[in-house]
Amino acid sequence: MARLRCAVLISGRGSNLEALMHACAKKDFPAEIALVVSNRADAGGLAHAARAGIASTVIPHRDYSRREAFEAALTRTLEAAGIELICLAGFMRLLTAGFVDHWRDRVINIHPSLLPGFPGLDTHARALAEGVRFAGCTVHFVRTEMDHGPIIVQAAVPVLQGDDEHALAARVLIAEHRAYPLALKLIGEGRVKVVGERTEIADISSGAPILLNPADDQRA
Ligand code: GRF
Repeated sequence: MARLRCAVLISGRGSNLEALMHACAKKDFPAEIALVVSNRADAGGLAHAARAGIASTVIPHRDYSRREAFEAALTRTLEAAGIELICLAGFMRLLTAGFVDHWRDRVINIHPSLLPGFPGLDTHARALAEGVRFAGCTVHFVRTEMDHGPIIVQAAVPVLQGDDEHALAARVLIAEHRAYPLALKLIGEGRVKVVGERTEIADISSGAPILLNPADDQRA
């Protein structure tokens, strides 16, 4: 079966890109990374793509005076590469309604909180300030509202006594590296359907779980 052609969009270090690359390197994985796009030439993640021989390109947002023009360049590049699914992985640009509608249900993102809690920046500091007992991450389809959209996979981790935001971020990041490949696998297998503003996952009992939790991590 043809593998789903994905682009991963990054702005920074690219650890989620690496996790996706690792998953896609498996022969039977139903998706491939055909292109990595960064809006910053200094994104550390570009080196991961280069090492693996994956095509990458930089589209500097500063070269465009309007957001729409930047996004038009992005769409041209993605369509020329035959991209079927866009994975945002630490891509630090807000996307306009025009772009999101054009690629509706074909753009996914990972956010380091259990959405709809703590969208936006400084998520770990805010979670710690609220004293929540669980943190985690969410992979979701992108809508124009930031960090919002039909949820595909979530992974929970405990918040431990004495955590600062760095310790919590590091624990959540480990969960991110499991959750994002799982979400991509489910989409690549054609098992994710957007119904209204939620998703339905087909055939859950026969495949990978969609719940990742601390108990699983302890067994791993
Ligand atoms: C991750 O925490 C992701 O959830 C958020 O940005 C961070 C990107 O990290 N959207 P990396 O570049 O994938 O290492």
